[in-house]
Amino acid sequence: MSAYVTKNPLSDQRDWPEPPDEIAAFHRRMPAYQPTLLLDAPVLAAKIGVGRLLVKAETRRMGLPSFKILGASWATYQAICAHLGEEPEPWANINELAAKLAHLRPFTLATATDGNHGRAVSFMARLLGFDAKVFVPAGMASARITAMESEGATVTIVDGDYDDAVARSGQEAGDRCLVVSDTSWDGYETIPAQVIEGYTTIFGEVDEAIDASGLPHPDLVVIPMGVGAFMSAAVTHYRSGERRPTIVGVEPLDANCIQASAMAGEITHVPGPHRSIMVGLNCGLPSMIAWPRLSSGIDWFVSVDDDAARDAMRHLADAAVAAGETGAAALAGLEALLADPQALEALPDPKNSTVLIVVTEGATDPGAFQEIVGCPPDSIGRVLTAIR
Ligand SMILES: Cc1ncc(COP(=O)(O)O)c(C=O)c1O
Repeated sequence: MSAYVTKNPLSDQRDWPEPPDEIAAFHRRMPAYQPTLLLDAPVLAAKIGVGRLLVKAETRRMGLPSFKILGASWATYQAICAHLGEEPEPWANINELAAKLAHLRPFTLATATDGNHGRAVSFMARLLGFDAKVFVPAGMASARITAMESEGATVTIVDGDYDDAVARSGQEAGDRCLVVSDTSWDGYETIPAQVIEGYTTIFGEVDEAIDASGLPHPDLVVIPMGVGAFMSAAVTHYRSGERRPTIVGVEPLDANCIQASAMAGEITHVPGPHRSIMVGLNCGLPSMIAWPRLSSGIDWFVSVDDDAARDAMRHLADAAVAAGETGAAALAGLEALLADPQALEALPDPKNSTVLIVVTEGATDPGAFQEIVGCPPDSIGRVLTAIR
């Protein structure tokens, strides 16, 4: 099987409260903050058979190659405020914040990661003058480990998968160490909920860009899912306002824990090994705190194989977007959805629909990108000048 498409039997379209306004205001104080690009991709839209394709490109966000810093930064700040028992206001930029927190040092931020979240937490620790300890599953690409080490993190390879790395990171919590995880477990819920809140900035930016450009708002939104924290932010946004697009979640075929949970009617573990090249989505268990939004807010699930991700990387490269394997998953899922007769019958005509996909990462493993796409990531999107 190359794709598995199902309607969510648990979807009930219920309303969720809007995220607080101060999140976007916090992000605006982060260094190099600016909204990422929202691209209109007419050639790719025509190729895959949708009326309009909007691509939110999280390939560079505050100097990092994925969206994860939005959740890691907000959750870290909130965790520090809780640790201090107050907000360290006023501060206008990260250097002022670091100076206000200097008395805490030596201080460590710890987390588990498949790459991007750990890099974002390491980046945040470096900005604040803290140490970072990151636990990763066995077999992680060395480019991802090096990227975290270059932020000053101590990286420990755990003998096991992502879920084992999460369990290991939880043991670090202490007076001088905050665990900033993007997934939740019993008794550890506040910080992952703040990670989710942080991600909602993306969808606010999408709305602003659409309003400013006069383009239509999406009828269909396609989001890649690992533990479902990012999707939970999408549900918060699109199930709290007036606009109610159809929401589609995409997972790897052998790590489709959110689809499997919905089909089973309860949170279900999908055992590993999870070996997809969409490494950010190699998760066997949905985030417990994300589950109520995931189960109620998603309309369709699509699980795809690695060949679909590779094809999607090539299609995005043709549209001038250098996406990593995980970043290309939303397009892979959309293409599989559009090839599914049952979905096509149930959905409004795709040719008259506007679809939003979020490309959640850039080429985090440049060697793998070159092998799959056939050229280096930094050549994508460049205008080549003819030599004669
Ligand atoms: C690039 C990228 N996209 C999507 C996801 C999925 O996010 P979540 O685990 O919140 O579902 C991840 C998670 O690590 C990721 O790194």
